[in-house]
Amino acid sequence: MQHNKKRIFYSKNLEMNFGGLYALADINIDVYEKEAVGLIGPNGSGKTTFFNVITGVYKATGGAFYFMDKNLLGKEPYEIAKSGISRTYQSSRLCLDLSLLDNILIGMYNNQTAGYFSSLFNRRRLIAEVRRFKNRAVELLNIFNPELIDRMFRPVGELPQIDRRRVEICRAMAGRPKIILLDEPSAGMTPDETKELMEDIKKVRSTMEDVSIIVVEHDMSVISTVSERVIAINFGKEIARGTYEEVSNHPEVRKAYLGKEV
Ligand SMILES: Nc1ncnc2c1ncn2[C@@H]1O[C@H](COP(=O)(O)OP(=O)(O)OP(=O)(O)O)[C@@H](O)[C@H]1O
Ligand SMILES: [Mg+2]
Repeated sequence: MQHNKKRIFYSKNLEMNFGGLYALADINIDVYEKEAVGLIGPNGSGKTTFFNVITGVYKATGGAFYFMDKNLLGKEPYEIAKSGISRTYQSSRLCLDLSLLDNILIGMYNNQTAGYFSSLFNRRRLIAEVRRFKNRAVELLNIFNPELIDRMFRPVGELPQIDRRRVEICRAMAGRPKIILLDEPSAGMTPDETKELMEDIKKVRSTMEDVSIIVVEHDMSVISTVSERVIAINFGKEIARGTYEEVSNHPEVRKAYLGKEV
């Protein structure tokens, strides 16, 4: 399926043991350049834990994961972000009192060229950097909703859910990552907003052509529309992988979602 594409990420026997509970038991997930992978599984199956481990929030208790052939196990979150993996969160991590611009700027530190001290002592350089960051924020907002540019200095708390999610995606894109991890981006949205969100994800892929995406979702319309390949996990272990049709019809997956329509 992706023989001519380059594999940019993979995990090997990844394990996360929380005092006896294996949130991840044996996870081997690979991501190729420019692809969108859907990660599904029932509540508590380990999806968010997987994101937390590969962004350095938790240190895996076993296995390893590699990004661009570099072992990132044990690296700090900022180092991992800097190397090119960024994310959004299941529950919004926006600072509602801060402006749209400030929230996006938070995502830009790994793009920063001037260090704090050189910035302090070299005003011209600092001003140039701030201008560059602001231009990047405008460019990002313009992709999703040009109306947001006029509201750039307004607090994020004034925005409807869909626009908040857009600001979060802008923040994740700000540092020009190679992989974006989206944890339930449609959570809390109406069906119409979810449709817009799917368009937004398409825009991410068309404007950042070399980016790969892992999307975790309970909304199967998002998974089937957005992802080229789907991996299903349960109890921290893979139970199926393939196309959306293959995975959603897999007996193990149906069993895992017992009672829930996939
Ligand atoms: N910090 C932690 N300490 C202890 N247990 C944890 C911790 N984080 C997650 N878990 C447990 O690990 C398991 C997997 O949780 P996780 O949040 O990864 O599931 P999920 O697949 O994201 O579920 P959901 O679809 O509800 O978001 C759960 O049993 C959860 O209670
Ligand atoms: Mg989760």
